[in-house]
Amino acid sequence: MTQRVQQQIEQLRAELRHHANLYYVLDQPEIPDAEYDRLYRQLQDLEAEHPEYIRSDSPTQRVGAKPLTSFSQVRHRVPMLSLDNVFSEDELAAFNKRLRDRLETEQELVFSAEPKLDGLAVSLVYEQGELVQAATRGDGNTGEDVTSNIRTIQSVPLRLLGEKIPDVLEVRGEVFMPKAAFNKLNAEASANDEKTFVNPRNAAAGSLRQLDPAVTAHRSLAMYCYALGYVDGDLPSHTHSEALATLRHLGLPVCNEIEIVTGVEGCMHFYHAILKKRDALPYDIDGVVYKVDDISLQEKLGFVSRAPRWAIAHKFPAQEEMTQLEGVDFQVGRTGALTPVARLKPVFVGGVTVSNATLHNMDEVRRKDIRVGDTVIVRRAGDVIPEVVAAVTSRRSGDEDMIHLPEHCPVCQSDIEQVEGEAVARCTGGLFCRAQQVEAIKHFASRKAMDIDGLGDKLVEQLVEAGMIKSVADIYTLEKEQIAKLERMGEKSAENLIAAIDRSRTVSLARFIYALGIREVGEATARNLADAYQGIEKLKAADEEDLQTVPDIGPVVAKHIVHFFRQPHNLEVIDQLLDKKIGAIQFEAVPVVKASSSALSGKTVVITGTLSGITRDEAKQSLLAAGAKVTGSVSAKTDYLLAGEKAGSKLSKAEKLGVTIIDEAALEKLLSA
Ligand code: IVH
Repeated sequence: MTQRVQQQIEQLRAELRHHANLYYVLDQPEIPDAEYDRLYRQLQDLEAEHPEYIRSDSPTQRVGAKPLTSFSQVRHRVPMLSLDNVFSEDELAAFNKRLRDRLETEQELVFSAEPKLDGLAVSLVYEQGELVQAATRGDGNTGEDVTSNIRTIQSVPLRLLGEKIPDVLEVRGEVFMPKAAFNKLNAEASANDEKTFVNPRNAAAGSLRQLDPAVTAHRSLAMYCYALGYVDGDLPSHTHSEALATLRHLGLPVCNEIEIVTGVEGCMHFYHAILKKRDALPYDIDGVVYKVDDISLQEKLGFVSRAPRWAIAHKFPAQEEMTQLEGVDFQVGRTGALTPVARLKPVFVGGVTVSNATLHNMDEVRRKDIRVGDTVIVRRAGDVIPEVVAAVTSRRSGDEDMIHLPEHCPVCQSDIEQVEGEAVARCTGGLFCRAQQVEAIKHFASRKAMDIDGLGDKLVEQLVEAGMIKSVADIYTLEKEQIAKLERMGEKSAENLIAAIDRSRTVSLARFIYALGIREVGEATARNLADAYQGIEKLKAADEEDLQTVPDIGPVVAKHIVHFFRQPHNLEVIDQLLDKKIGAIQFEAVPVVKASSSALSGKTVVITGTLSGITRDEAKQSLLAAGAKVTGSVSAKTDYLLAGEKAGSKLSKAEKLGVTIIDEAALEKLLSA
């Protein structure tokens, strides 16, 4: 009996190891997560019943250890080396020539070309296939024992896979934090008013140096192995690439961006290809590494002081630099949000010269304790706008100035309001504030709002720039001759624009409400408001309590609506829009749908997936015209689910609830019924 239990436990462990490898290392899961979880719980239950069979390499024992009081020292059996750097093709060519001279060869060298992962070097020691020790690089000879923390990294096997396992296998690799985990960690830190990490590498280092492995376990670290250390036993490897393949077979995580290349040309080709991919990779890299692939050649080349002669790092342009914070301006965005913007002493970072960088909001400024005059770290990674990530407080002279939120909008002088519990401060100027005007006008003219064909973002900017329009009402006073004079405009396009503006004078109340750009009032909310109030005057007069009786409107949106209609400037603009001499906007009569006239009237419909014959928006418009209600999520109240290609969770939910599922053809029929 007990033997059977023991067998069952071992069987479950083997199965879990196999699937964990497929999931965490190879990224090719074969079974659903739920099935994995079920196997895992089964093992947990058996181990709870039979604690005598618990072994430290069991998949359930990743976060076992208690918090440490300090890390102990580990001496590396083979020193952990570092790499020399090159920064250009010329320097790379010189490196290549040195190697060929030393090897006295005319032949092109073959390299293993690998991303240079931006994390921390770690050594893992497996004895008889079991992970027994993990250590940081330290000074190369002595590092710190971080075994308990490394054990929490899901892609690091606690037991190697396969049959032919050396007695002792030491592997080296890089521990890092994937970008997604880093962003999530920092977002959580911000939300909790805690300090954020400057970059994924610092976050990885901070997480690995936690004395409590339970904390590390929550930090989603990852690891890629890139070299062997001390080995006792057979490990067939004439080349570095073979060795990496063997590591993969043993269940160890190895980066899959590695390629075999020839000569400087091959290296440069790889360099450019990876540089192009850099932003899209799920982890940070700071360059590439080229390693002579042939181990016998590596041995001939040997080492200089702390670095091998047979490998070199080819660094990418840095994504972080230090510079001086010379001042802070406040920018007003489309919704009136104030963003503190750092004025910097120009600095070359991430491939461009940066003189402005975002400070996000005042909460961030406070949390990071950034002051004018500080030496700051600026980061520009990929397409993300440059940001100030930290102040170098050790460089402070004491003459630095605190950063203060202005009391008045730098654009329109209206009051600035900071809502309790919100990080963002806003200008209260609404449609009156120039900074918000341009965006308000773009939104007003857009397709789903007043749908003024030809009045795109560029033209709005041109018109505002030229002083021809200041508010949305001014659109209706534009004249053909004026427009025709603008750059890139002619008679014909001016005529077309005037015609489009005229067409927009007749509009549904719902579109008009949406076009006003009230905070958090999207299309659906605008439609509900139009249904509920049937006219703009009644909407203007509604109070918060009353507004909350409208479907989908809660206290926050109600507040925004009331606030909007309380601004004298906004009321003035609306009056002008409806004024016969200025905007002359008229509302379309609401189509009265008789209950019997449509099979769809009063029905609630949800649309999901990709439609082929019509767009989702068109389907929605037809449904609304037929008197149906279109909502976003499936519930027991849903009458129909219109499902297109690749319908996902909404389809399965509808099936579960027994909602009638229709396709486009069925929709046609219902619409014409
Ligand atoms: S090989 C004997 N390969 O870069 C060669 N290192 O600047 C030892 N690194 O300490 C290193 N990616 O932490 C190697 N694919 C890669 C690497 C890599 C990142 C790190 C490693 C090393 C540092 C040297």
